[in-house]
Amino acid sequence: MTTIELNGAKVSVHSPENTPLLWVIREELGLSGTKFGCGIGLCGACTVHVEGRATRACITPIRAVAGARITTIEGLDAQGRHPLQTAWLEVQAPQCGYCQPGQIMQAATLLKDYPDPNDADINAVMAGNVCRCMSYVRIRKAIKLAAA
Ligand code: FES
Repeated sequence: MTTIELNGAKVSVHSPENTPLLWVIREELGLSGTKFGCGIGLCGACTVHVEGRATRACITPIRAVAGARITTIEGLDAQGRHPLQTAWLEVQAPQCGYCQPGQIMQAATLLKDYPDPNDADINAVMAGNVCRCMSYVRIRKAIKLAAA
């Protein structure tokens, strides 16, 4: 058994210790906001925060995050809606929407490091989050709106 702190609550996990965090979150703990894309750490759909840093849950075994503070899209803002989520809605950033939780989780860590990001900052930090609908221009706009 592994214990983690998920979205502010201590949680006991019973999945085998090599189980990717993504499947623990989705299958054992029932939070479906974190998505499966590539499964090899290349697309960013599964991005969560581990101790406040963007982490690919598909390639992170649960044993590697024992005792850690983990945040998913469902817990990004304990008060309800994070400014990034408000901005995402404002600019209608998603098309199909599948990659967007991962995009928002990556963007949240971007804003910690770059409170007033320019295009180059955004492109550099968001480069590993792929969108098949090519919503990159609207994502950049939403990030800047949330930072304003
Ligand atoms: Fe984890 Fe693609 S599903 S990076």
